[in-house]
Amino acid sequence: MDARVPPSREFSARLDAIAAETDALLDALLDGRAAAGEIARPPRLLEAMRHASLGGGKRLRPFLVVETAALFGVPHQGALLAGAALECVHCYSLVHDDLPAMDNDDLRRGRPTVHKAFDEATAILAGDSLLTFAFDVLSRPAVHADPGVRLALVNELARASGLGGMAGGQMLDLAAEGRFEKKRQLDEKEVATLQAMKTGALLRFACRAGAILGGADKAGLDALDRYGRAVGQAFQIADDLLDLESDTATLGKQAGKDAAAGKATLPSLLGAPAARTRLKSLVDDADAALEPFGGKAAVLSAAAHFIAERRT
Ligand code: IPE
Ligand code: IPE
Ligand code: MG
Ligand code: MG
Ligand code: MG
Repeated sequence: MDARVPPSREFSARLDAIAAETDALLDALLDGRAAAGEIARPPRLLEAMRHASLGGGKRLRPFLVVETAALFGVPHQGALLAGAALECVHCYSLVHDDLPAMDNDDLRRGRPTVHKAFDEATAILAGDSLLTFAFDVLSRPAVHADPGVRLALVNELARASGLGGMAGGQMLDLAAEGRFEKKRQLDEKEVATLQAMKTGALLRFACRAGAILGGADKAGLDALDRYGRAVGQAFQIADDLLDLESDTATLGKQAGKDAAAGKATLPSLLGAPAARTRLKSLVDDADAALEPFGGKAAVLSAAAHFIAERRT
């Protein structure tokens, strides 16, 4: 029997609304006109960036930025812009993750991956351009009036995205397949580090960004950091369980690939039931982290449950 409960109506409505606003914002940002300081926007590259970033995607990271920021009464439009910037990094990470040299996937969000719809060179450049575009957007005054706040966001997003964050985690992910040296079974701690980097870092940044935008005190920042770490870990465990147990049509991306590729995942190491138990305790930890915010954080609690129980 399926024990999963559907997400609350309020959570679904908030996620849908923020997703629609993020889509509209990215659509407007990625138009054909060169911005001040740009020379021209080559149409093929722009189309590939739009393919990667529009039309699909749960927009969970922008949701987390906007809803954590809302705890501190941050104006909606600035948080939305910061969320759109983060989404550009996320979409770039997917374009490169799908490349033949990485996970070699043909399907993403129910559509051909960027290198299939265009070509590999265009996909590499679309990823490069989405990554740098994120920092263009995040540094704009419309994100926050205080340049110190914007600089803190830029610095944290850079660290979450690069060597010691997402890209570093992708390196560990490929190394664990045995591509560079003889394959060796990673232990639980090593898998946790890999996942905290490749997936957790951007989700954690999303939650910290809300606190930074809101000028939170140390206790507020620490609480959202703890929440962000928990949902970050939960997110990848759920993704790995879906790869194992769901199907390509439901996911909009090829299912059942991780085992064949020899990916280091928690379900492969501990088995699916133990991975599910871990998911539950991470959701409990996320809820515990939200306690200081009381009822104001109900939608973030619902988000943690959604992340663990999602079907796509
Ligand atoms: C997929 O992320 C990649 C991982 C980090 C596991 P999402 O499941 O958030 O992908 P979209 O944006 O909704 O397509
Ligand atoms: C991707 O993890 C994490 C990224 C940094 C993009 P996966 O390789 O498991 O993501 P999917 O399953 O392709 O979306
Ligand atoms: Mg991957
Ligand atoms: Mg992949
Ligand atoms: Mg996956």
